[in-house]
Amino acid sequence: MTSGNHMPQYPESYWRQSVSLSHYPKLNESIKADVGIVGGGITGITAAYLLTLKGLDVVLIDAGPVLQGTTGHTTGKVTAQHGLIYDEFIQHFGQDKATLYYEANMEAMRMVEQLIETHKLDCDFTKEDAYIYTESDDKRTQLEKEAKAYDLLGIKGELADDMPLDIPCRSALRMSSQAHFHPLNYLNGLLRKAVSNGLRIYEGTVAVDVEYRKHPAIVTRDGNRITCKHIIQASHYPFYDGEAFFPTRMYAERAYIIAVESSKAYPGGMYINADQPTRSIRNVTINGKDAWLIAGENHKTGQGEAMIKHYEALEAFTEQRIGIKNFLYRWSAQDLTTLDKMPYIGPVTRGQENVYVATGFRKWGMTNGTIAAKMLSDLIVNGESPYADLYSPSRFQADPALRKFVSFNTDVAKHLIKGKLEYTNGDVNALQSDEATVTRINGKRTGVYKDENNELHAVDTTCTHLGCEVHWNSGDRTWDCPCHGSRFTYTGDIVNGPATDPLKTINLD
Ligand code: FES
Repeated sequence: MTSGNHMPQYPESYWRQSVSLSHYPKLNESIKADVGIVGGGITGITAAYLLTLKGLDVVLIDAGPVLQGTTGHTTGKVTAQHGLIYDEFIQHFGQDKATLYYEANMEAMRMVEQLIETHKLDCDFTKEDAYIYTESDDKRTQLEKEAKAYDLLGIKGELADDMPLDIPCRSALRMSSQAHFHPLNYLNGLLRKAVSNGLRIYEGTVAVDVEYRKHPAIVTRDGNRITCKHIIQASHYPFYDGEAFFPTRMYAERAYIIAVESSKAYPGGMYINADQPTRSIRNVTINGKDAWLIAGENHKTGQGEAMIKHYEALEAFTEQRIGIKNFLYRWSAQDLTTLDKMPYIGPVTRGQENVYVATGFRKWGMTNGTIAAKMLSDLIVNGESPYADLYSPSRFQADPALRKFVSFNTDVAKHLIKGKLEYTNGDVNALQSDEATVTRINGKRTGVYKDENNELHAVDTTCTHLGCEVHWNSGDRTWDCPCHGSRFTYTGDIVNGPATDPLKTINLD
């Protein structure tokens, strides 16, 4: 941990830094299991726990170490208050489905609480009221509509002119009795239980395809196969599309988080604003001291200004509204949003009933990921779940999803073409340490990063997913794709899919 008045030089998630995880081997042979799970985040680990509890033979693989992805970089809010969503869901899906979404997420929260109690998981689970607040008159009307939706759906809470947090507020909508926790201490405990129930785990094992048949097989990059009765894709972005065309139906956003100590005492509660830019606030205990987590500055991956500016904006907001005594951590997260904002959980397409996906949780993966695990394990064990229709990836809601479909894919096409035409004539010789530029080498668009030791790292900037051009992310030192959110390290390795192949490295000699 870097502590002081200045922003830490490198991003590091507090959750990752403060948990002690076991290491697991790489898969070096072809094997069989009842269920193969790809992805060691909240969905994959919870599903592994539930399925091994039922006596199934389960294998979980992860491209990196487990708990390294979005789950390791969340704010750790466990809540059914997902921004302004219930009025929109009533308009779009109807009251019954909006109720079901609320119930699904509340069931997830109760499940987390119960598992913590049953297994005595030490993870700072704390009940808090959750608030959406606004500083503007315009959004106040939307908050009023959302409050009416709460009434209609029987959600406990109320609209008020004030809230416990002392920052400007025109109106605040409370949802009673929500929670937050240390997500990795919780999941590490659950993972150990699953392992003692017989779960097999392989890290550093990249899934690249599914061979679909009665007993489908996960194919790894090394050519090994895991032949299963059921496959769960819990890898954030589904690595196997199965002609579901996810790249046309989801977009990736990045968000930023800072952890600070302040001389201001935390007033209780957890908060998110309804305004732009987003600000999401909760407290956390770090080394026995009260600290604040401030998140926000969401933007589409690979688009927008220099990424370090987003951390600086959060810092400026926190300094102005709360006051920073010590800057403790900074990190960022990647979230996926579907066209209609409802996650895709269930069979990847009709006709591929034993290959499942769980994706598109927006920023709300702690509850949506937990209910995804419950729903998929219910489908596998009992053949049914009350939430199957709600979350079905094969649903089709013509409006407004279709309008979004057009505008989102026009945006992708624009980036695809723009990237190819961009003037790229960066001067590699002028690079300072910890800087990157895009240039042309032998006619090829090439990204070059100069590291702290003044060593140059060059990659072909054409994304290995569908060919858009990646952009440098100065906040996290990654190459990010504006089309569907793939991210790569400066040496070309994959940080986030959908890409399953690394960027080509270029020899500068
Ligand atoms: Fe799809 Fe890069 S993520 S083209």
